[in-house]
Amino acid sequence: MAETMKGLKRTHRCGELSAANIGETVTVMGWVQKQRNKGGIIFVDLRDRAGILQVIFEEAECGGENFAKAEKLRSEFVAAVTGRVEKRAAAANENLATGEIEVRALQVRILSEAETPPFPIEADSRTKEELRLKYRYLDLRRPDLQKNLILRSKIATTIRTFLSEEGFLEIETPILNKSTPEGARDYLVPSRVHPGMFYALPQSPQIFKQLLMCSGYDRYFQVAKCFRDEDLRADRQPEFTQIDLEMSFVDVDDVIDATERMVARVCREAIGLEVELPLKRMTWDEAMNRFGSDKPDTRFGMELTDVSDIVKGCGFGVFTSALEAGGSVRGINVKGQAEMPRKKIDALVEFAKGYGAKGLAYLSVLPDGSYKSSFAKFMAEEELKALVEAMGGQPGDLLLFAADKLKLVWSVLGALRIEIARQLELIDDNKFNFLWVTEFPQFEWSEEEERYVAMHHPFTMPMEEDLELLETEPGRVRAKAYDIVLNGVELGGGSVRIFQSDVQERMFEALGFTKEKAHEQFGFLLDAFKYGVPPHAGLAIGFDRFVMLLVKADNIREVIAFPKVKDASCLMSDAPNLVDEKQLEELHLRITE
Ligand code: AMO
Ligand code: AMP
Repeated sequence: MAETMKGLKRTHRCGELSAANIGETVTVMGWVQKQRNKGGIIFVDLRDRAGILQVIFEEAECGGENFAKAEKLRSEFVAAVTGRVEKRAAAANENLATGEIEVRALQVRILSEAETPPFPIEADSRTKEELRLKYRYLDLRRPDLQKNLILRSKIATTIRTFLSEEGFLEIETPILNKSTPEGARDYLVPSRVHPGMFYALPQSPQIFKQLLMCSGYDRYFQVAKCFRDEDLRADRQPEFTQIDLEMSFVDVDDVIDATERMVARVCREAIGLEVELPLKRMTWDEAMNRFGSDKPDTRFGMELTDVSDIVKGCGFGVFTSALEAGGSVRGINVKGQAEMPRKKIDALVEFAKGYGAKGLAYLSVLPDGSYKSSFAKFMAEEELKALVEAMGGQPGDLLLFAADKLKLVWSVLGALRIEIARQLELIDDNKFNFLWVTEFPQFEWSEEEERYVAMHHPFTMPMEEDLELLETEPGRVRAKAYDIVLNGVELGGGSVRIFQSDVQERMFEALGFTKEKAHEQFGFLLDAFKYGVPPHAGLAIGFDRFVMLLVKADNIREVIAFPKVKDASCLMSDAPNLVDEKQLEELHLRITE
């Protein structure tokens, strides 16, 4: 039977002991990593969240009863050991923080026995992730996940300290809300008391934080849980955490300044990284034209070049017909890859097609200056020369071109550039390239809905000089919106908000909301604006993403204690699940399929 804690107190964590404790009698508690019985002497590695400690049992020291207990210890048993810290008799183990010492046991209690776990509890596990997620509570014992979650907690503390020093108040906003249609799909919660009605879980605290500004809490923040029912990817979870903030009496630069100082402080305290401030800024236009992305990875070059003007009269129909249809022809120069095997180029073409491209035209500038190309035969010698020159092509380079609607060309080449950089290992993963992308378009045309939709959200303020275009040329209106980007990942985003009800009404109109619909959805916000509202602006950082990038994990699941998988289920608890008839009845719901 397991023993208890009665009369026992832990003095140290296993991993905290060092040569400084030599001579002390300590009590440590943890999980058995390994037990080795060498006859008269038993070695036990005891593990807790601080690290691993070697414990030695010898019958002459600890007595027969304790020695017998030590013989029973197996991996993942939970034990308490009281003993004396000594300098390690054998050579120091440089792989362990506690490698210079060992604890000579005087007493042991077995607090809990354990079955053999389905996978070994160790760093750099090669266990399939599915199995790890099914037994997440065991997976979380592994040092890499413990390191990530400990750092995550530390970063949250740094952020809270920083924001509180800067005069931000931490205020919670509701989780059970009214559904609003803009943005991703909502998670809905049926109401028992109101038959047929639903709450929506927040996609973000956006409206509430704006209301808090109306109420005079001029600097707000929250470590906010957000819920979005969207397709999951490596950096997306259905529920995730934002560092959400809002400020009154400010403009773009104030939010950017507060945010980047916060981010720099986190980088310094979490991973000892000095980030140079102010961070670089780039307009959305520049980001798209140079990198084909609104979240450019600037750790490598391979920028896009617009060659539309060069090829507009050329003999290659793919290029000219795209231009005639109002599109664009752009290319990237893959330096030194002229000899890339045909098979690899074909794979890149397929990759481009995955992004909607109809094809990808290529031209290799061979070392002798001649060309190998999928389209050279359609173009005159001078046309080719001009094209290569415009692309900065040198002997040895591979030039890749996409011809299509500009939006598609951007997304194809933007993705291709990253794919190729990954394949050729051009990305220095010791670099942390932060960047602000500013002046986003206010609207995005939705083919699906055949109307303009807000690129950020409907509360975002247009740039003053573009306000007059709201009714006439909405496509050209730029927003006072900004994203903070780290290594090609959108870390956070925000905007200056509309605070005049007339501008807000015009915005809803441009978005195709009727007055009635706008009032039905957001009436309380529009009403609040009638009673004195300060100019305000804010932003939210994706906290999980931030931690993921700082620990260089390649999936957000590595920094979330209990994450969900691609189909939004939890492999450990089996959520979501069926509920019984009675529950459905109470909620006035019936399953139709
Ligand atoms: P936005 O929708 O850009 O802005 O979200 C802010 C940041 O949250 C992170 N994020 C996610 N992280 C993990 N999984 C997801 N599914 C997910 N979706 C978003 C991203 C993103 O940059 N209310 C506004 C902010 C504002 O205007 O103040 C908002 O929510 O890192
Ligand atoms: P095709 O005339 O369709 O055989 O195409 C000739 C070359 O142009 C092939 O290498 C195609 O991959 C390429 N190509 C086709 N469509 C496009 C496009 N929209 N943009 C760039 N290259 C294309």
